[in-house]
Amino acid sequence: MYDLIIKNGWVVSDSSTIKADIAVKDEKIAAIGNAADFGEARRVIDVQGKYVLPGVIDAHMHVEAPFAGCFGANDFYTQSISAAFGGVTTFMDFTNTFKNDSVLEKIKVRHEEMSKSAIDYSIHGKFVEAPQRVIDEIEKIVDYGCPSFKLFMTYKKEGVMADDETLIKVFARSKECNALPMVHAECNAIAELNIEKFREEGDLSWPKFAEAKPVLCEAEAVSRAIYFTKYVGNALLIVHTTNGEALEIAKRAQEQGYPVYIETCPHYLTLFQDIYEKPEGFLAICSPPLRTPEEAEKLWKGIQEGVISVTGSDDCTYSIHEKTMFLEKDEEGNIIPDFTKVVNGLSGIETRLPILLSEGVNKGRISINKLVAITSTNIAKLLGCYPQKGIIAPGSDADLVVVDLEKEVTLSAQVLHNNIDYCLFDGMKVKGYPVMTISWGSVIVENGEFKGKKGAGKFIRRSINPEYLKEFSL
Ligand code: URP
Ligand code: ZN
Ligand code: ZN
Ligand code: ZN
Repeated sequence: MYDLIIKNGWVVSDSSTIKADIAVKDEKIAAIGNAADFGEARRVIDVQGKYVLPGVIDAHMHVEAPFAGCFGANDFYTQSISAAFGGVTTFMDFTNTFKNDSVLEKIKVRHEEMSKSAIDYSIHGKFVEAPQRVIDEIEKIVDYGCPSFKLFMTYKKEGVMADDETLIKVFARSKECNALPMVHAECNAIAELNIEKFREEGDLSWPKFAEAKPVLCEAEAVSRAIYFTKYVGNALLIVHTTNGEALEIAKRAQEQGYPVYIETCPHYLTLFQDIYEKPEGFLAICSPPLRTPEEAEKLWKGIQEGVISVTGSDDCTYSIHEKTMFLEKDEEGNIIPDFTKVVNGLSGIETRLPILLSEGVNKGRISINKLVAITSTNIAKLLGCYPQKGIIAPGSDADLVVVDLEKEVTLSAQVLHNNIDYCLFDGMKVKGYPVMTISWGSVIVENGEFKGKKGAGKFIRRSINPEYLKEFSL
């Protein structure tokens, strides 16, 4: 007797799409084949004509994270609801590390904070310094099941920048411990010098934000991080990459055999810096800044060619209140633009899959198999939870998302579930939408309704297969 049978769907992996039925027992995928051979199940769901994908993994988001005086609009429970509506069944966040902290202790704190999630979760350790005391913790953090680390190459003023020495030391110990460092690559010096210049010129309006952190500001840091990786011999994941120049640098390293992996995010594929010309441009302030349609096409090409192997949302959902709370107003009550006073970050965990389905698969830019690779399989492999996650195969967790490639939705704050009253994708028509999300064999979203439970998510202990950290291939 099975717990669940999902029949008549197209079952998708990173390399195949087959018409097959799926049987679930004791929270795991038990069989893939013909329902006629399966026998009885407690529930049978007919998904005729729809696509069944491995549950989406979002390894890049920031929730309950004190940053620039803000905390974000969601907690891990509300975030997990929004995520589930977007087909996400596992998400990962970072420790809130500051100087003098024990990263391992911060991992344990985060573990507790995330335990209210309705979906599975894991944690990346964030490193802001690397004294021996911190380096000595790395092995313990890996043993705890968290073999991935975040380092910011900017945000010095916010107190979270890792300097070059820190990067090299963490890269080196990561290599020894089979862990994957991830970097936010922007040159802090270029950004700060530009900001000082614009401040002296008296113009810190929203469009100046993109000018302060241009492509070269990002490319310099991408290049530096990659040279450190060449020096150390570790594997590296560069997050939220926005432009063709950064991709060229990464591609060259990949061709030379270095395990350099690249992530991009849906907002860099679909939102552009012209938003900063609008009065509400502050809502789109995120780092790195939004770029141009030309850069976005280079990112799509990077996905097609495999230079980019993963996507993340970089969800960092702030209310309008938080986005504006440090801005001053003139006598008429109008906001005086100053991008340095706006917290960085966009909302996007729920829209990542729909946007990639619509702009990617339905517009013919990527296959549905590539979509599975960049939203699930490659992330599971690279971050060490494959094949428990990232594939529909016997023995894997029964984390599934049913997708209707014909379903059309106009995105707005009303159709999303992310605790804010604006939507940067407002009015965008997407074709292709998740219609059912299943976690460990339980339906958690169905017919537009959330059916999950607070605290039902499990902490996923990860361990990375060293093969994926050796050379560039997944
Ligand atoms: O602007 C962004 N991306 N905010 C979140 C923190 C980060 O840089 O990833
Ligand atoms: Zn970042
Ligand atoms: Zn981020
Ligand atoms: Zn307030």
